[in-house]
Amino acid sequence: MSKPVVLIAEELSPATVDALGPDFEIRHANGADRAELLSAITDVDAILVRSATKVDAEAIAAAHKLKVVARAGVGLDNVDVSAATKAGVMVVNAPTSNIVTAAELACGLLISVARNIAPANAALKQGEWKRNKYTGVELSEKTLGVVGLGRIGVLVAQRMSAFGMKIVAYDPYVQPARAAQMGVKLLSLDELLEVADFITVHLPKTPETIGLIGEEALHKVKPTVRIVNAARGGIVDEEALASALKEGRVSGAGLDVYAKEPCTDSPLFQFDNVVATPHLGASTDEAQEKAGIAVAKSVRLALAGELVPDA
Ligand code: MLT
Repeated sequence: MSKPVVLIAEELSPATVDALGPDFEIRHANGADRAELLSAITDVDAILVRSATKVDAEAIAAAHKLKVVARAGVGLDNVDVSAATKAGVMVVNAPTSNIVTAAELACGLLISVARNIAPANAALKQGEWKRNKYTGVELSEKTLGVVGLGRIGVLVAQRMSAFGMKIVAYDPYVQPARAAQMGVKLLSLDELLEVADFITVHLPKTPETIGLIGEEALHKVKPTVRIVNAARGGIVDEEALASALKEGRVSGAGLDVYAKEPCTDSPLFQFDNVVATPHLGASTDEAQEKAGIAVAKSVRLALAGELVPDA
């Protein structure tokens, strides 16, 4: 009898294949290449992806044997969950696999943008020793506005309070008492925009959150604010942010995610006070290993017809 086929459509940790074990035929494809994906998905039982593969209604319709879509990470915005559900395809993810890693990157961007680490590094390597040009600001005693106090937002809040930052947050789904237990004051979004010295975004990408930090919001912030987005591209509107930076209404930004990815050419990249990374939020050995093992286990259970527990 032939083995069920598992398609690995992006580069995943080698631990993923080890955790799948010998019971499957493993195939590889480049899921970011649309034609390759649509052809490779036709006869597989499961597909494993990160964020570059769009498992949308068209891909699901092309997959005649598909039973599971496994997202080796948190966000499901590249998977059409409702199309999958209608087609009887299970969608699994690894919701806690990379939260520490993602939080650490957000903190890194925040520190980098406060202290001009990236432009100073680039300048020094070009032979420029410019100490005054790259004078930064302290984090201690500054107010950090966390937009989205979910799993990652909480980890960022905990870590940055160790730097002496005062933490405020906007999250309509969190009770003020719960936030207070963590030493976080809940505010409305407008209040947060007005008081924050730094803003860090930790929301999923949904129709409600796209453009949340856009033109209107960016007219409410302090001109000294520095904004970090290591969540999803498009939640901070890139054009609005570029205008705010140009007009001096925002002092800096740390960006890991973009409305359209891959993104190698953005008006935001012209600013010295923008630190930009190529969607590295989940990219550590540890997070990739955890994500790969978690989804491999879920795929095994799902293809064996067993219950897949919530991670
Ligand atoms: C996530 O949603 O967990 C990350 O975007 C994962 C990734 O980078 O693959």
